[in-house]
Amino acid sequence: MEYVHYSVMRQEILENLIPPQDTEATMVDCTCGEGGHTHLFLSTYPNLRVIGLDRDSSIQQKAIQRMERFADRFTPKNIWFDDFFADAQENSFDLVLFDLGISSYHYEESERGFSFRKDEVLDMRLDKTAPISALDVVNGYQEERLADVIYQFGEERYSRRIARAIVERRKTGKITTSEELASIIYKAVPSGYRYGHIHPATRSFQAIRIEVNRELDRIEPALKGAIKALKSGGRMAVISFHSLEDRKVKWLFKALGEGENPTIRILTKKPLIPSDTEREENPASRSAKLRIIEKR
Ligand SMILES: C[S@@+](CC[C@H](N)C(=O)[O-])C[C@H]1O[C@@H](n2cnc3c(N)ncnc32)[C@H](O)[C@@H]1O
Repeated sequence: MEYVHYSVMRQEILENLIPPQDTEATMVDCTCGEGGHTHLFLSTYPNLRVIGLDRDSSIQQKAIQRMERFADRFTPKNIWFDDFFADAQENSFDLVLFDLGISSYHYEESERGFSFRKDEVLDMRLDKTAPISALDVVNGYQEERLADVIYQFGEERYSRRIARAIVERRKTGKITTSEELASIIYKAVPSGYRYGHIHPATRSFQAIRIEVNRELDRIEPALKGAIKALKSGGRMAVISFHSLEDRKVKWLFKALGEGENPTIRILTKKPLIPSDTEREENPASRSAKLRIIEKR
């Protein structure tokens, strides 16, 4: 089996998340994906068990295969991470890792319309049983709501023009594929913007994906739940890929790490970022930010 995702900041995570050596330890990999980080930890620490969460059952199958050799120490769970921590017991885990967002697998193999470079049915659901897909957002939302989604979750300055173009185009029939959507967006934006450093559809696609999976709403409850579920002295690492995610992580850590009775110690005053070598090796890692805390 081939694994297409490059796991980011492996060295920095390994150096900072160290399980207790003399006893069994448990880590929750909240965004297991194809299992790159999980595999690294299981092969480094023979006393470590990993609970690997992912709401996407297809990618989880890849992780299960990859972890065959460690099957007795790997427990996959097909669940949203916020739901997992809503039910978790206090003081249960030694280490927690979040590597937010989606995997290269989603762009390259999932066939669910995550990429504007491919021609696939617009779906973008991680949970295939979820009631709302990208088709519903693109074809069903009113213009203003669509513009708000693209603005808030994509920080797209041409959100209103893009939403208007989508709604105009809907008058002639349903928009069903990622290629159609990308071409509507491309034509909607000013010509100068078409040749910027990112494709003009990048931000809108990100926004629609975040809306479909309610990605941002899940972060804060999950982080709070995870801190509760950490053992005292346990550590949590969070990797984010855009400012919308990182802002949530940063403010929550600040709120819980400062004041009279802080529950956490912030180990990264400034977030760690990938080394030059990693950024050269994997340009997609360039926007990664890693924040780490320890529970008091
Ligand atoms: C960036 S990838 C993780 C890559 C992984 N760390 C590796 O090294 O292979 C994020 C994964 O988390 C999953 N995911 C995203 N948000 C989630 C959530 N709220 N609950 C559960 N899984 C989620 C996605 O399906 C995706 O597979």
